[in-house]
Amino acid sequence: MSAATQLQLSSFARDVAAGFSDPRQKYLSARYFYDDLGSVLFEAITLLPEYGLTRADERLLRLHAGEIASFCTGVSLVAELGSGTGKKTRNILQAVSKSASRLRYSPIDVSAGALACCERELFDAAEIEPVCADWLDGLAEIVHNRVRNSSLLLLFLGSSIGNLDRSCIQDFLRRVRSYLRPGDFFLLGADLMKNTDTMLAAYDDPTGVTAAFNLNMLARINRELDADFDLRAFAHEVRWNSTERRIEMHLLSGREQTAYVGALEASFAFQPGETIWTESSHKFTLCELEDYARASGFTPLKAWADHEWPFAEALWKA
Ligand code: AVJ
Repeated sequence: MSAATQLQLSSFARDVAAGFSDPRQKYLSARYFYDDLGSVLFEAITLLPEYGLTRADERLLRLHAGEIASFCTGVSLVAELGSGTGKKTRNILQAVSKSASRLRYSPIDVSAGALACCERELFDAAEIEPVCADWLDGLAEIVHNRVRNSSLLLLFLGSSIGNLDRSCIQDFLRRVRSYLRPGDFFLLGADLMKNTDTMLAAYDDPTGVTAAFNLNMLARINRELDADFDLRAFAHEVRWNSTERRIEMHLLSGREQTAYVGALEASFAFQPGETIWTESSHKFTLCELEDYARASGFTPLKAWADHEWPFAEALWKA
């Protein structure tokens, strides 16, 4: 690849080049799952009987929104990292707006489609000020423009935090905390440790929806970066990593093969049995979440756990 080509590459192309050139383990960030097709496939995942995570998140927010809001005194602004469709946020907005004269809601998402969906879903629950940006950039913009004397409630739901390595989580939370003022609140949704078979099944459903979600990463490289991956020569693979306490998703090469990526003017070789590591979904304990809170400058106020599908909403105060 020439230096001139290098300059014009999208960050997607650069990440593919870096991740597929690692001689020890090929990898690609889970953020690239979510193009239009990938986002629809994820919505389908949330309906799978094996994937209880999203239903548990919604159940907790529905049941405990009132109590969560009762802790959040003086909040007139709710922001959310990665808003998705906004469906599960309604309960929180309605509960918080009972004690706020004028409630504003700023969803932060890289997908303009997700933000539009959020506005349609929630226009009657708050004044919506969407921010189309990466999570921390969006948060920086919001806090830069905020008014004095009112508190912010920041939402980070759905266990999106589980995609980060444990070594990055602490740093991420410290950065989140640095954007907040004392008296602000942070509500974190996190998937909890559970039976190994239950966790594996949630990422390896027999209908193959999660496999399609995983394989769509290669389809997206074909579409956007002019590549020729043969999707039928890769298989969806799910592993439980007990040391790191996380589910890992991989794409397993079924044979020796080479794929050409036009945008990079480069080929990548795959051995039979070699994998591309596409996602980590870390699983937590309630104690671990409290430790994260304290270590990043928050006071943990309360956590609500679902018993049908171990999952927690943890409320922290800055
Ligand atoms: C959206 C990151 C929480 O890790 O469970 C679902 C994504 N990947 N099935 C998760 C996902 C495969 C999901 N998160």
